Amino acid sequence: MTPLVVAHRGNSSVAPENTVAALVSAARAGAHLVEIDLQMTVDGVGVVFHDHPLGRTAAGSGLLRDLDLDGVARLEVGSWFDPVHSGTRVPLLADVLGVLARYDDLGLLLEVSGPWTAHALGHELASIADAGLAGRVIVQSFSAESLSLARDLAPELPRGYLTATWSDDVLETCTDTGSRWCNPRADLLEGGFGVVDAIHDLGLRTMVWTPNEPDGWAAALEAGADAIITDRPDRLLGWLAGT
Ligand code: G3P
Ligand code: CA
Repeated sequence: MTPLVVAHRGNSSVAPENTVAALVSAARAGAHLVEIDLQMTVDGVGVVFHDHPLGRTAAGSGLLRDLDLDGVARLEVGSWFDPVHSGTRVPLLADVLGVLARYDDLGLLLEVSGPWTAHALGHELASIADAGLAGRVIVQSFSAESLSLARDLAPELPRGYLTATWSDDVLETCTDTGSRWCNPRADLLEGGFGVVDAIHDLGLRTMVWTPNEPDGWAAALEAGADAIITDRPDRLLGWLAGT
C-alpha cells in the first residue's frame, strides 16, 4: 500500500519550519498529514517550535521553555530561512487547528516535545476535541511519560512512540503507552532488525522519519512503512506517483 506522506514541520524545505506558511504549503502540495513540535512555555502555553535552545531559527539565547508567552510572541522565526518570510511569528496550536479546519483532508501529527504539566497539556489536547478535530490528530513523542500523560488526558487521540534506537524495550514502550504507531528513525531500517515487520507483528503501524531523498523513500517503501515523514512532501508525492 502507498504510504501516507507526512510533512515534517510542515513543508519545511520551501518555507520556515513549524510556521503557518509551511503548514499551508504542505496542505496545498497534498500532504496527508503535517507534523509539528509543541513545547510548553514557562507560563504553561503550547507553542510550535522545534529546538529547545534559541539561536537557530529565532534570535536569542537560553531555552525556549524558559520564555513566557509574551516572550515567545516577540520571536521572529522566518528571516533565518529567507528574508521574504521576515516577521513570521511562532504559531499556537489554535493557529495549526485553523489550518486543519481549512483543509478537509489534512491530518496533524502533533509531537509533544520537552517537559509538560498535566494541566497545560490537558488544556492543549482538549482544544483539539473542542475544535471537532480529534479524528484528524495523532499525538507522538520521544517521551513515554508524555505519551502516558496524553493517554490519561485525551484517550481518544491515537498515539505514536518516536524512537532513534532499536531494542525490545521500544516495542514494550509502544505497548505500555497504548500507542497505535511506533515511529523509527530511517537509519534503523538499515540495521537488519526487521523493524517494520516487528512493529506490524504487534498490530501497530509505523511512520519512518525523516528521509528526504529517493533512496531513503525507496527503503521505507520496500520495508512496508505505513507513512513517511519528510521535509520534501511535494517531491515525495511526485516520486510516489511515479513508482
Ligand atoms: O516526526 C519525527 C521527527 O520530527 C522527530 O525528530 O527532532 O525532527 O522532532 P525531530
Ligand atoms: Ca518533530
